[in-house]
Amino acid sequence: WFDHVKPAPKDPIIGVTEAFLADPSPNKINLGVGAYRDDEGKPVVLQCVRDAESKITGSEFLESISAGVSSRFVEESVELIYGKNSDVMKERRFAGLQALSGTGACRLFAEFQRHFHHDVPIFLPDPTWSNHHNIWRDAQVPVRTYRYYHHDSKGLNFGAFMDDIKNAPEGSFFLLHPCAHNPTGIDPTDEQWREISNQFMVNHHFPFFDMAYQGFASGDLEKDAKAIRIFLEDGHIIGCAQSFAKNMGLYGHRVGCLSVLAKDQKQAMIVRSQLQRLARAMYSSPPIHGVLLVSTILSDPLLKAEWIEELKVMADRIRSMRASLFDHLEKLNSPHNWDHIVKQVGMFCYSGLNYEQIDQLARDFHIYMTRDGRISMAGVTTRNVSYLAEAMHQVSSY
Ligand code: LMR
Repeated sequence: WFDHVKPAPKDPIIGVTEAFLADPSPNKINLGVGAYRDDEGKPVVLQCVRDAESKITGSEFLESISAGVSSRFVEESVELIYGKNSDVMKERRFAGLQALSGTGACRLFAEFQRHFHHDVPIFLPDPTWSNHHNIWRDAQVPVRTYRYYHHDSKGLNFGAFMDDIKNAPEGSFFLLHPCAHNPTGIDPTDEQWREISNQFMVNHHFPFFDMAYQGFASGDLEKDAKAIRIFLEDGHIIGCAQSFAKNMGLYGHRVGCLSVLAKDQKQAMIVRSQLQRLARAMYSSPPIHGVLLVSTILSDPLLKAEWIEELKVMADRIRSMRASLFDHLEKLNSPHNWDHIVKQVGMFCYSGLNYEQIDQLARDFHIYMTRDGRISMAGVTTRNVSYLAEAMHQVSSY
């Protein structure tokens, strides 16, 4: 039955973790997966999560989650995108569903797209998170790309981006990273987002935002939602995938939310019923523990304030590691310009290192990152930053 099945290629991100785990060196560094680590390189359980945990003990009924908790979770998640006083919240014109983290939210949306806009392509940024390609391909949605990154300037290729929006077939779907673009760490300015949003209106494109890192670009949840709010002001119907894997440190719990706006509450209920039907056929319902944690935090003003403080600490640590890596490379008199390390935002630095340099870093220095040169800054610590800078300097100095 299965003789024709060939081994699947390794996942470019998970494969890095596997190579790292197999390396016995005490100096090894994992700069692969974009999940937060503290200055000791350890995964973090946030205090707000611990506090929420103590509140929900005993309240869990292992059969299923109550409709009340689930709809409160969705409502609070959607509020993080559009703001409490937005017309979206007042008019209740959103269809939202708890999803299996950001990946599950994207997958559910892709399925929805295939059912109700069959054959309409989705445009992904070049480059983007590698799994976006898998998700929409497996949902049998035609995948195209739009230009995003400019290699020479190591910045945004805004002109090409705008041209690709203009030249896409009218009414295309576009996946946008609203903040902390993965993998480049380069976000459009507010002014550029306004132009992008205007052009979407002209071409009747649908904006789908994948917001996996809210809070990590600026340290501020509201600021990181600005791009989406610009689109909202312009009257777009918007889709959004949210993940609490990074900003609440809940990667293993798979907590996320998919929301789709509608023209009114009635239409939102119809859309929601279809999303629910699709989810039911794929995995029925998601696990309940993580969502209880998130909804306990978001619905308690003290816990929410605690979370916001902790999120700032995480974002600040990453920013200070960027500065430190940059300073170390400067002190080593690197012949290259490393300004982009401090200019880029969020969890990733798109280093510009090439395949050979990346392979050499793994082979000779036990430093692991994805082969596109993306460094997960969360893996950089006070203790390993000078070793990393020295290694980057050595592999890039000839
Ligand atoms: C990443 O890009 O490393 C993260 O989004 C984690 C993942 O699941 O790939």
